[in-house]
Amino acid sequence: MKRLTSVIVILFAVCANAKDLPKVVILATGGTIAGSAPTEVQAGYQSGQVGVDILINAVPQLKEIADVRGEQISNIGSQNMSDEIWLKLAKRINELLGQDDVDGIVITHGTDTMEETAYFLTLVTKSKKPVVLTCSMRPSTALSADGPLNIFNAVAVAGNKDSEGRGVMVVANDRIHSAREVVKTSTTAVETFMSPLVGSLGTVNYGVVNYVDLPHKKNTYESEFSVDGLTSLPRVDIIAIYEDAPGDLIKAAVDLGAKGIVTSGLGNGNLTDACIEALQYARSKGVVVVRASRVLTGFVGRNVELDDDKLGFVASYELIPSKARVLLRLALLKTSDPTSVQEYFATY
Ligand code: DGL
Repeated sequence: MKRLTSVIVILFAVCANAKDLPKVVILATGGTIAGSAPTEVQAGYQSGQVGVDILINAVPQLKEIADVRGEQISNIGSQNMSDEIWLKLAKRINELLGQDDVDGIVITHGTDTMEETAYFLTLVTKSKKPVVLTCSMRPSTALSADGPLNIFNAVAVAGNKDSEGRGVMVVANDRIHSAREVVKTSTTAVETFMSPLVGSLGTVNYGVVNYVDLPHKKNTYESEFSVDGLTSLPRVDIIAIYEDAPGDLIKAAVDLGAKGIVTSGLGNGNLTDACIEALQYARSKGVVVVRASRVLTGFVGRNVELDDDKLGFVASYELIPSKARVLLRLALLKTSDPTSVQEYFATY
């Protein structure tokens, strides 16, 4: 009888504990975190090789901090991330966040385009519940792979009540970043992800979460953008500006159907005269032009070294080209008026 009682007590404790753990869903898209290489000590590897259940089983400690289950959305190197996967991912996230048995979501993703996927999701997911992207710079087979601890920390952040209402976040290398601010700053370093303009939102150290900031712009549940019913996104091209840059590629983008152009300009979003002339051609075709900068931090302001009011250009403010493109694509679903688009850049 005593044995039966102790079994019942243990079962009760296990069930009670499981009931208390946050319910986190991991959506896997591929990337180096799912990568593998023939040896533990080589640079060459193949990303998108390992499935979500293997990623979860490689971190048994997850069971202590959350009730975790996984879904495979895709399994690609994120250099091949696509509108199709973006829309599938965003719609699935919104479905899951609407369920009472989901408290938070983690997305495993390649590092190459994680900054734009995160910003896209922070503009189109509709909940205060935490959505956290994570990644790795070393494949799962590498010596001192960074993926497992990044997954553990990302689940800890996604299951933490204090993470609610902070917009979509990126967790990598013990840092918690806002989707809007985070950028990949090194092609190889484990500490590649930074938020150079405003700093990170906080830290997560072996699952211990500590916030020091809140997002600075509208996102998620406050956003007016939606993917409901969407099957495609407007074409927006980013054009690099450089010494003596001609306008050919700008005109080509317009003729190929771009509805928006983001320039990765010089300094404060500056352009060669040839590019300005080509952008006036773009404006004559109703294409919306956003001046961003190749410079990683700072503020691209209106009417500094050229007359945005007269040319009908939009200034990207703090957004770098990759993020400016994301916002412009969503803005173009609502308007192609430069003044209205500029307001979106002040708000998001
Ligand atoms: N293969 C690239 C990607 O999937 C970079 C590797 C990585 O994830 O760090 O983004």
